[in-house]
Amino acid sequence: MAKINIEPANGKLGILTPGLGAVSTTFMAGVMLSRKHGFAPVGSLTQMQTIRLGKRDANNSPLIKDFVPLAKLTDIEFGAWDIFPDNAYEAAMKAGVLSKEHLGMVKDELEKIKPMTAVFDHKFIKNIDGPNVKTGKDKLDLVEQVRADIRAFKKEKNCSRLVMVWCASTESYIEEQPVHRSLEAFEKGLAEGDPSISPSMIYAYAAIMEGVPYVNGSPQITLDMPALIELARQKGIAIAGKDFKTGQTLMKTAVAPMLKNRMLGVRGWFSTNILGNRDGLVLDDPGSFKSKEISKKSVLDFILQPDKYPDLYKGMYHKVRIEYYPPKGDDKEGWDNIDLFGWMGYPMQIKINFLCKDSILAAPIVLDLALFMDLAQRAKMHGMQEWLSFYFKAPMHAPDLYPEHDLSIQHMKLKNTLRYIMGEELITHLGIEYYDYWGTGKESKK
Ligand SMILES: NC(=O)c1ccc[n+]([C@@H]2O[C@H](COP(=O)([O-])OP(=O)(O)OC[C@H]3O[C@@H](n4cnc5c(N)ncnc54)[C@H](O)[C@@H]3O)[C@@H](O)[C@H]2O)c1
Repeated sequence: MAKINIEPANGKLGILTPGLGAVSTTFMAGVMLSRKHGFAPVGSLTQMQTIRLGKRDANNSPLIKDFVPLAKLTDIEFGAWDIFPDNAYEAAMKAGVLSKEHLGMVKDELEKIKPMTAVFDHKFIKNIDGPNVKTGKDKLDLVEQVRADIRAFKKEKNCSRLVMVWCASTESYIEEQPVHRSLEAFEKGLAEGDPSISPSMIYAYAAIMEGVPYVNGSPQITLDMPALIELARQKGIAIAGKDFKTGQTLMKTAVAPMLKNRMLGVRGWFSTNILGNRDGLVLDDPGSFKSKEISKKSVLDFILQPDKYPDLYKGMYHKVRIEYYPPKGDDKEGWDNIDLFGWMGYPMQIKINFLCKDSILAAPIVLDLALFMDLAQRAKMHGMQEWLSFYFKAPMHAPDLYPEHDLSIQHMKLKNTLRYIMGEELITHLGIEYYDYWGTGKESKK
């Protein structure tokens, strides 16, 4: 298999995040703690996972980071926008995810990250407001300001490449409007200040125009529209989304495939969460919650396929709740109650109680996505990066395909894509060559 031509990861990679809150500061501080104090970047495939190459008995499993040419942690620069003026150290202290002791170890570096003024529209995020916000005569003017920020950051930090990862609050749910349906309509809408163009769309448009890959870490529809998909294709830019798959959905996309693989039925699946961080506060608004609910709810139908297995899953009751409960802070607690049934319809239950830390799960995802998106861009892989579905609750996919939600399949897809671009044999897990099923006495083909 021929290897894809990948430009080397020379120079520095700038990772820009709209949003300097719990997720982004935990990500930044973690990378700093890793590179300066040797903390293990737990949860990151790019840093810790191996990839098997060749046959199972070949014993060849290098680390992913030694197999594909990724940017090094020491070559990363950080930049951010936020509606609050706190620097990354202050924001991380307020988020309260990492301890004061750990943050203190990288305080100097964190303090240097000061948020650029944000593009903000209260209509899209109801429950917060802040002073560090841009003003402009129209939305095109705001685009130009973000583009100027991107260029200034790149120059100041002497970066050769950039990636943008949305880590800001969840915007309210909106339906796709005519202004989103073509690039022409979208650009006209920017000039006319169309109310259906949200701040995240302005950041995404500005990023793509500047040649910067864009990742949507939240559930709003930013990239799910013909206009920006068309722009990404025209400009040859990698895009990916949406909504980091961290806690309950991660669990769901591991457990649901197991139930279906075993042909066990499900009558109901009730999922609820309590969390008390700023993300929880924003999600307390019904508009923002609706974006989240849609992205969280779609996974079961696609995994369980009730249309193909009506006896097992038709009419299954699926409910997802998120409750804002301040005492929990970033320590989200999720409960899943699964009413399942087995042989002869006999009922059983599974209860999952996940006491997780939201941003601890999200931070390595931000790192991996930034590094893989930079890799994709250097490999000239343009448009939506479906192979990164593993990281998303509602992965982008070609219009005529259904999304792949099964965590194991997503994982296999990711690793096979890495093998593919590096010209290595894909691994099908068939393994027939290790056995002599037909008694022909042939040794296993190596
Ligand atoms: N933590 C997880 O497990 C997880 C999983 C999936 C998705 N997410 C999403 O990631 C996002 C960040 O989560 P978080 O816990 O860091 O939230 P957070 O509230 O701590 O941080 C978000 C930050 O974005 C800022 N912000 C809001 N609108 C902005 C704008 N238009 N431009 C720039 N900054 C803006 C806010 O002021 C805040 O500081 C949320 O949308 C959340 O839904 C998080």
